[in-house]
Amino acid sequence: MNLATKHMYLYGAGGHSKVITEILNSLGTTVIGMFDDSPPMARFKVMEIRDGIRLLGEGFPPLDAPLIITVGNNARRAELASLIGATYGTAIHGTAIVSDQVTIDVGTVVLHAAIIQAGTKIGAHVLINTAASIDHDNTIGDYAHISPHATLCGHVQVGEGTHIGAGAVVIPSIRIGRWCTIGAGAVVIKDIPDFATAVGNPARIIKFRKDLDFVDFPTEPASRNGEVSSNLLNSIVTTPQL
Ligand SMILES: CC(C)(COP(=O)(O)OP(=O)(O)OC[C@H]1O[C@@H](n2cnc3c(N)ncnc32)[C@H](O)[C@@H]1OP(=O)(O)O)[C@@H](O)C(=O)NCCC(=O)NCCS
Repeated sequence: MNLATKHMYLYGAGGHSKVITEILNSLGTTVIGMFDDSPPMARFKVMEIRDGIRLLGEGFPPLDAPLIITVGNNARRAELASLIGATYGTAIHGTAIVSDQVTIDVGTVVLHAAIIQAGTKIGAHVLINTAASIDHDNTIGDYAHISPHATLCGHVQVGEGTHIGAGAVVIPSIRIGRWCTIGAGAVVIKDIPDFATAVGNPARIIKFRKDLDFVDFPTEPASRNGEVSSNLLNSIVTTPQL
Protein backbone atom coordinates (compact mmCIF):
# COMPACT_ATOMS: atom_id res chain seq x y z
CA MET A 1 0.00 0.00 0.00
CA ASN A 2 2.96 2.32 0.55
CA LEU A 3 4.07 4.09 -2.55
CA ALA A 4 7.46 2.52 -3.15
CA THR A 5 9.71 5.50 -3.37
CA LYS A 6 13.22 6.26 -2.27
CA HIS A 7 12.53 9.93 -1.65
CA MET A 8 9.71 12.00 -0.21
CA TYR A 9 9.03 15.66 0.43
CA LEU A 10 7.02 16.90 3.40
CA TYR A 11 4.95 20.04 3.68
CA GLY A 12 4.77 21.01 7.35
CA ALA A 13 7.85 20.95 9.54
CA GLY A 14 6.23 20.74 12.99
CA GLY A 15 5.92 17.85 15.44
CA HIS A 16 3.83 15.68 13.14
CA SER A 17 6.58 15.74 10.53
CA LYS A 18 8.99 14.13 12.99
CA VAL A 19 6.67 11.16 13.34
CA ILE A 20 6.18 10.81 9.62
CA THR A 21 9.91 11.19 8.94
CA GLU A 22 10.63 8.30 11.29
CA ILE A 23 8.02 6.15 9.59
CA LEU A 24 9.43 6.92 6.18
CA ASN A 25 12.97 6.20 7.34
CA SER A 26 11.83 2.85 8.71
CA LEU A 27 10.43 2.08 5.25
CA GLY A 28 13.70 2.98 3.56
CA THR A 29 12.43 6.32 2.26
CA THR A 30 14.50 9.45 2.76
CA VAL A 31 12.90 12.84 3.31
CA ILE A 32 14.82 15.04 0.90
CA GLY A 33 13.02 18.31 1.46
CA MET A 34 10.62 20.01 3.84
CA PHE A 35 8.48 23.02 3.15
CA ASP A 36 6.74 25.18 5.67
CA ASP A 37 5.09 28.55 5.23
CA SER A 38 4.74 29.51 8.89
CA PRO A 39 7.21 32.07 10.31
CA PRO A 40 8.62 29.92 13.13
CA MET A 41 9.72 27.42 10.53
CA ALA A 42 11.67 29.91 8.49
CA ARG A 43 14.66 27.64 8.28
CA PHE A 44 12.72 25.39 5.95
CA LYS A 45 12.08 26.02 2.30
CA VAL A 46 8.86 27.81 1.62
CA MET A 47 6.55 26.58 -1.05
CA GLU A 48 4.83 29.69 -2.25
CA ILE A 49 1.10 29.66 -2.71
CA ARG A 50 -0.32 32.57 -4.63
CA ASP A 51 -3.64 33.28 -6.25
CA GLY A 52 -4.90 29.88 -5.30
CA ILE A 53 -2.21 28.14 -7.24
CA ARG A 54 0.57 26.20 -5.69
CA LEU A 55 4.04 26.86 -6.78
CA LEU A 56 7.21 25.42 -5.67
CA GLY A 57 8.41 28.87 -5.04
CA GLU A 58 10.26 30.70 -7.64
CA GLY A 59 13.59 29.14 -8.08
CA PHE A 60 12.37 25.70 -7.05
CA PRO A 61 12.41 23.02 -9.70
CA PRO A 62 9.35 20.78 -9.98
CA LEU A 63 9.28 18.19 -7.24
CA ASP A 64 11.01 15.02 -8.30
CA ALA A 65 9.44 12.87 -5.57
CA PRO A 66 6.02 12.53 -3.91
CA LEU A 67 4.94 14.79 -1.07
CA ILE A 68 2.97 14.29 2.14
CA ILE A 69 1.27 17.19 3.91
CA THR A 70 2.43 16.74 7.49
CA VAL A 71 0.16 19.28 9.12
CA GLY A 72 -1.96 17.98 11.98
CA ASN A 73 -4.81 20.46 11.64
CA ASN A 74 -7.44 18.95 9.34
CA ALA A 75 -8.70 22.23 7.91
CA ARG A 76 -5.20 23.45 7.18
CA ARG A 77 -4.36 20.14 5.53
CA ALA A 78 -7.45 20.46 3.33
CA GLU A 79 -6.58 24.03 2.43
CA LEU A 80 -3.03 23.11 1.50
CA ALA A 81 -4.16 20.11 -0.54
CA SER A 82 -6.43 22.36 -2.57
CA LEU A 83 -3.51 24.65 -3.34
CA ILE A 84 -0.55 22.38 -3.79
CA GLY A 85 -0.22 20.52 -7.04
CA ALA A 86 1.97 17.55 -6.24
CA THR A 87 2.03 13.82 -6.52
CA TYR A 88 1.17 12.62 -3.05
CA GLY A 89 2.70 9.69 -1.22
CA THR A 90 1.46 7.65 1.71
CA ALA A 91 3.21 6.39 4.83
CA ILE A 92 2.09 3.30 6.68
CA HIS A 93 4.20 2.16 9.60
CA GLY A 94 5.35 -1.44 9.53
CA THR A 95 3.61 -2.23 12.81
CA ALA A 96 0.20 -1.17 11.49
CA ILE A 97 -2.10 -4.02 10.50
CA VAL A 98 -3.98 -3.13 7.35
CA SER A 99 -6.23 -5.65 5.61
CA ASP A 100 -5.64 -6.28 1.92
CA GLN A 101 -9.28 -5.37 1.45
CA VAL A 102 -8.78 -1.79 2.54
CA THR A 103 -8.44 1.16 0.17
CA ILE A 104 -6.34 4.14 1.19
CA ASP A 105 -6.20 7.29 -0.90
CA VAL A 106 -3.23 9.56 -1.53
CA GLY A 107 -1.53 11.62 1.14
CA THR A 108 -2.83 9.45 3.98
CA VAL A 109 -0.64 8.28 6.84
CA VAL A 110 -1.16 5.35 9.18
CA LEU A 111 0.88 5.42 12.35
CA HIS A 112 2.32 2.76 14.62
CA ALA A 113 0.12 -0.17 15.66
CA ALA A 114 -3.05 1.08 14.02
CA ILE A 115 -5.41 -1.67 12.85
CA ILE A 116 -7.65 -1.30 9.82
CA GLN A 117 -9.97 -4.16 8.99
CA ALA A 118 -11.46 -5.48 5.75
CA GLY A 119 -13.87 -3.45 3.68
CA THR A 120 -12.81 -0.08 5.08
CA LYS A 121 -12.29 2.84 2.71
CA ILE A 122 -10.05 5.70 3.75
CA GLY A 123 -9.95 8.99 1.87
CA ALA A 124 -7.10 11.30 0.96
CA HIS A 125 -4.85 13.18 3.38
CA VAL A 126 -6.26 11.30 6.36
CA LEU A 127 -4.31 10.82 9.58
CA ILE A 128 -4.83 7.45 11.26
CA ASN A 129 -2.96 7.94 14.50
CA THR A 130 -1.13 5.58 16.82
CA ALA A 131 -3.00 2.40 17.77
CA ALA A 132 -6.31 3.57 16.36
CA SER A 133 -8.61 0.61 15.77
CA ILE A 134 -10.78 0.83 12.70
CA ASP A 135 -12.96 -2.20 12.20
CA HIS A 136 -14.57 -3.58 9.06
CA ASP A 137 -16.55 -1.66 6.46
CA ASN A 138 -15.90 1.82 7.77
CA THR A 139 -15.75 4.83 5.49
CA ILE A 140 -13.47 7.70 6.46
CA GLY A 141 -13.63 10.94 4.51
CA ASP A 142 -10.76 13.04 3.21
CA TYR A 143 -8.77 15.10 5.75
CA ALA A 144 -10.17 13.22 8.75
CA HIS A 145 -8.03 12.46 11.79
CA ILE A 146 -8.59 9.36 13.91
CA SER A 147 -6.60 10.02 17.08
CA PRO A 148 -4.52 7.61 19.13
CA HIS A 149 -6.42 4.67 20.61
CA ALA A 150 -9.75 5.72 19.13
CA THR A 151 -11.99 2.79 18.23
CA LEU A 152 -14.39 2.76 15.33
CA CYS A 153 -16.58 -0.33 15.32
CA GLY A 154 -17.95 -1.79 12.07
CA HIS A 155 -19.87 0.15 9.40
CA VAL A 156 -19.06 3.54 10.90
CA GLN A 157 -19.00 6.55 8.57
CA VAL A 158 -16.78 9.50 9.36
CA GLY A 159 -17.23 12.61 7.24
CA GLU A 160 -14.66 14.81 5.56
CA GLY A 161 -12.42 16.73 7.92
CA THR A 162 -13.80 15.18 11.08
CA HIS A 163 -11.55 14.73 14.09
CA ILE A 164 -12.17 11.73 16.35
CA GLY A 165 -10.43 12.45 19.67
CA ALA A 166 -8.01 10.22 21.52
CA GLY A 167 -9.56 7.11 22.98
CA ALA A 168 -13.05 7.85 21.66
CA VAL A 169 -15.30 4.90 20.87
CA VAL A 170 -17.88 4.90 18.09
CA ILE A 171 -20.35 2.02 18.19
CA PRO A 172 -21.34 0.14 15.02
CA SER A 173 -23.17 1.76 12.09
CA ILE A 174 -22.96 5.32 13.43
CA ARG A 175 -22.69 8.18 10.96
CA ILE A 176 -20.58 11.14 11.96
CA GLY A 177 -20.88 14.14 9.66
CA ARG A 178 -18.35 16.46 8.05
CA TRP A 179 -15.98 18.65 10.04
CA CYS A 180 -17.14 17.32 13.37
CA THR A 181 -15.03 17.05 16.51
CA ILE A 182 -15.50 14.12 18.84
CA GLY A 183 -13.90 14.76 22.23
CA ALA A 184 -11.23 12.59 23.74
CA GLY A 185 -12.77 9.60 25.49
CA ALA A 186 -16.26 10.15 24.08
CA VAL A 187 -18.57 7.22 23.45
CA VAL A 188 -20.67 7.94 20.39
CA ILE A 189 -23.94 6.02 20.33
CA LYS A 190 -26.03 8.26 18.03
CA ASP A 191 -25.38 9.84 14.64
CA ILE A 192 -23.63 13.22 14.81
CA PRO A 193 -24.58 15.98 12.34
CA ASP A 194 -22.11 18.00 10.29
CA PHE A 195 -19.91 20.54 12.12
CA ALA A 196 -20.91 19.33 15.61
CA THR A 197 -18.57 18.95 18.56
CA ALA A 198 -19.67 16.11 20.84
CA VAL A 199 -18.13 15.00 24.13
CA GLY A 200 -18.71 12.55 26.95
CA ASN A 201 -20.28 9.17 27.49
CA PRO A 202 -22.76 8.98 25.94
CA ALA A 203 -21.55 11.73 23.60
CA ARG A 204 -23.60 14.91 23.64
CA ILE A 205 -23.35 17.82 21.25
CA ILE A 206 -21.95 20.95 22.87
CA LYS A 207 -21.53 23.21 19.86
CA PHE A 208 -21.16 23.61 16.10
CA ARG A 209 -18.13 25.00 14.37
CA LYS A 210 -18.35 27.92 11.97
CA ASP A 211 -14.72 28.69 11.43
CA LEU A 212 -14.02 27.15 8.03
CA ASP A 213 -13.54 29.65 5.22
CA PHE A 214 -14.02 27.06 2.52
CA VAL A 215 -17.33 25.66 3.79
CA ASP A 216 -20.81 27.04 3.15
CA PHE A 217 -22.35 26.63 6.55
CA PRO A 218 -26.08 25.97 6.68
CA THR A 219 -28.19 28.73 8.17
CA GLU A 220 -29.80 26.15 10.43
CA PRO A 221 -27.71 23.40 12.00
CA ALA A 222 -28.65 19.86 11.14
CA SER A 223 -30.55 18.11 13.85
CA ARG A 224 -31.30 14.50 14.40
CA ASN A 225 -34.10 13.22 16.56
CA GLY A 226 -34.66 16.73 17.86
CA GLU A 227 -31.57 16.45 20.03
CA VAL A 228 -29.97 19.69 18.90
CA SER A 229 -31.53 22.67 20.57
CA SER A 230 -31.89 25.92 18.66
CA ASN A 231 -29.79 27.90 21.12
CA LEU A 232 -26.78 25.95 19.90
CA LEU A 233 -27.11 27.92 16.69
CA ASN A 234 -25.25 30.87 18.07
CA SER A 235 -22.64 29.03 20.01
CA ILE A 236 -19.08 28.52 19.10
CA VAL A 237 -16.60 29.40 16.71
CA THR A 238 -13.20 27.93 16.77
CA THR A 239 -12.64 24.32 17.57
CA PRO A 240 -9.09 23.32 18.37
CA GLN A 241 -8.23 20.05 16.76
CA LEU A 242 -5.06 19.00 18.47
C1 LIG B 1 -13.77 18.30 22.56
C2 LIG B 1 -12.71 19.37 22.63
C3 LIG B 1 -12.21 19.69 21.22
C4 LIG B 1 -13.36 20.58 23.25
O1 LIG B 1 -12.44 21.60 23.34
P1 LIG B 1 -12.98 23.12 23.56
O2 LIG B 1 -13.76 23.49 22.36
O3 LIG B 1 -11.81 23.95 23.91
O4 LIG B 1 -14.04 22.99 24.72
P2 LIG B 1 -13.88 23.37 26.27
O5 LIG B 1 -12.57 22.89 26.80
O6 LIG B 1 -14.23 24.80 26.40
O7 LIG B 1 -15.01 22.47 26.93
C5 LIG B 1 -16.37 22.72 26.73
C6 LIG B 1 -17.12 21.82 27.68
O8 LIG B 1 -16.98 20.46 27.24
C7 LIG B 1 -16.34 19.67 28.27
N1 LIG B 1 -15.38 18.81 27.60
C8 LIG B 1 -14.39 19.19 26.76
N2 LIG B 1 -13.74 18.13 26.31
C9 LIG B 1 -14.31 17.06 26.87
C10 LIG B 1 -14.05 15.68 26.77
N3 LIG B 1 -13.10 15.19 25.98
N4 LIG B 1 -14.84 14.83 27.47
C11 LIG B 1 -15.85 15.33 28.26
N5 LIG B 1 -16.13 16.64 28.39
C12 LIG B 1 -15.36 17.48 27.71
C13 LIG B 1 -15.67 20.68 29.18
O9 LIG B 1 -15.53 20.16 30.48
C14 LIG B 1 -16.63 21.84 29.12
O10 LIG B 1 -17.74 21.54 29.93
P3 LIG B 1 -18.50 22.72 30.75
O11 LIG B 1 -19.02 23.67 29.71
O12 LIG B 1 -19.54 21.99 31.49
O13 LIG B 1 -17.45 23.34 31.61
C15 LIG B 1 -11.46 18.93 23.46
O14 LIG B 1 -11.71 18.98 24.84
C16 LIG B 1 -11.02 17.51 23.12
O15 LIG B 1 -11.43 16.51 23.72
N6 LIG B 1 -10.16 17.42 22.10
C17 LIG B 1 -9.63 16.18 21.62
C18 LIG B 1 -8.09 16.22 21.77
C19 LIG B 1 -7.47 14.99 21.21
O16 LIG B 1 -7.94 13.88 21.38
N7 LIG B 1 -6.38 15.20 20.50
C20 LIG B 1 -5.65 14.13 19.87
C21 LIG B 1 -4.32 14.65 19.43
S1 LIG B 1 -3.36 13.38 18.70
